[in-house]
Amino acid sequence: MTPDTAVMNAQGHVADPKLAESGVNRIEWAEREMPVLRQVKARFAKDKPLQGRRLAACLHVTTETANLMLTLQAGGAEVTLCASNPLSTQDDVAAALAYRYKIPTFAIKGEDADTYYKHIHAVLDARPEFTMDDGADLVTVLHTKRAADAAGVIAGTEETTTGVIRLRSMARDGALRYPILAVNDAKTKHLFDNRYGTGQSTLDGILRATNRLIAGSKFVVLGYGWCGRGVATRARGLGAHVLVTEIDPLPALEAVMDGFEVVPAAEAARVGDFFVTVTGNINVLRMEHFKVMKDGAIVANSGHFNVELDLETLRHEAKSIRTVRPFVEEVTLEGGKRMYVLGEGRLINLAAAEGHPASVMDMSFANQALGIEYLLSHSKELKPTVYPIPKALDEEIARLKLEALHVGIDTLTPEQSAYLASWEQGT
Ligand code: ADE
Repeated sequence: MTPDTAVMNAQGHVADPKLAESGVNRIEWAEREMPVLRQVKARFAKDKPLQGRRLAACLHVTTETANLMLTLQAGGAEVTLCASNPLSTQDDVAAALAYRYKIPTFAIKGEDADTYYKHIHAVLDARPEFTMDDGADLVTVLHTKRAADAAGVIAGTEETTTGVIRLRSMARDGALRYPILAVNDAKTKHLFDNRYGTGQSTLDGILRATNRLIAGSKFVVLGYGWCGRGVATRARGLGAHVLVTEIDPLPALEAVMDGFEVVPAAEAARVGDFFVTVTGNINVLRMEHFKVMKDGAIVANSGHFNVELDLETLRHEAKSIRTVRPFVEEVTLEGGKRMYVLGEGRLINLAAAEGHPASVMDMSFANQALGIEYLLSHSKELKPTVYPIPKALDEEIARLKLEALHVGIDTLTPEQSAYLASWEQGT
């Protein structure tokens, strides 16, 4: 529901402007853990590579995103921001961005679907030349409802696996109107943000929502991509017996060799205490699974969209539903069995916790900022398709992060370089 402190104007649409001060403090706290982005910001402030460029961003409105917005602003960009999920907004951050940093921000935690899309239209009203998306809702609205405005867009970036999949399918269908840089595919993004970020923040969300003990529990992770690996590893670290489900033989085999029990979802459903979907697919847990779950089973999603759990059918078949704690819905089925659905099935790490910690978002968002700079200088040679982040840029971000962490690495000796370049030398 939209709170009555929320006023929609040129500064944006936020829950309560009075929250701005708390937002500023928390944004500064995150900035301390974002050394790579800080360096980019310092250079941007000096060189102004984005001077006068209009950029619309649709991202989770968090302290880390705020630091990215401030970096783009320092580079001279005119930025407008909306939420990429109705439940992930940090209201104090949105207030700080709109009212202290003068970045029009349209985001209210708990906004309904109608408001969510109004906010997307609001950032598109700024006639962006660049889009920055997390999940591809902004690009989709632009291509379907505002196709005439798409002509004015030079290029865009996409943050997440789900969005990249959507955009690749748009490109395949010939529907994509401008080039997109897949930030998600940078190694300095998915190997850290998806794995260590999702791993920690998903457990954080489940713990904050439930305060349940993980040790000794049966913890089911559905999907063993980079996010699934992170969640499974952290759940094991807290003492859970972790079961993994997969549809792809390769990650399934990796999960086996990583020491996890791999079983079909139908089997896991009978034994699990906790369930987390991280597949990017639809209806991964459905009525046939809910029906056989134990009384008290806890079900959450940490994939981008809330479609991974078939909550529509669950709600339809429920005898009763009530909220028992913030972000915890008790669903009672025929026969009296209770299940607990966390955060309305939306990404639990952002709904009940604060998303990934700043230290990993540092690299993801350095990719975003440098990605926009790259797109601006290469726009003439790029076609309307999905591009990877250039390897040199990815490696530079890794190098800067290591430097900030005071970690030294070795360089090849001339002899080693020559050896690697040669083929004559064997045993
Ligand atoms: N996605 C996951 N965690 C995030 C965060 N802290 N900020 C922005 N996007 C995120």
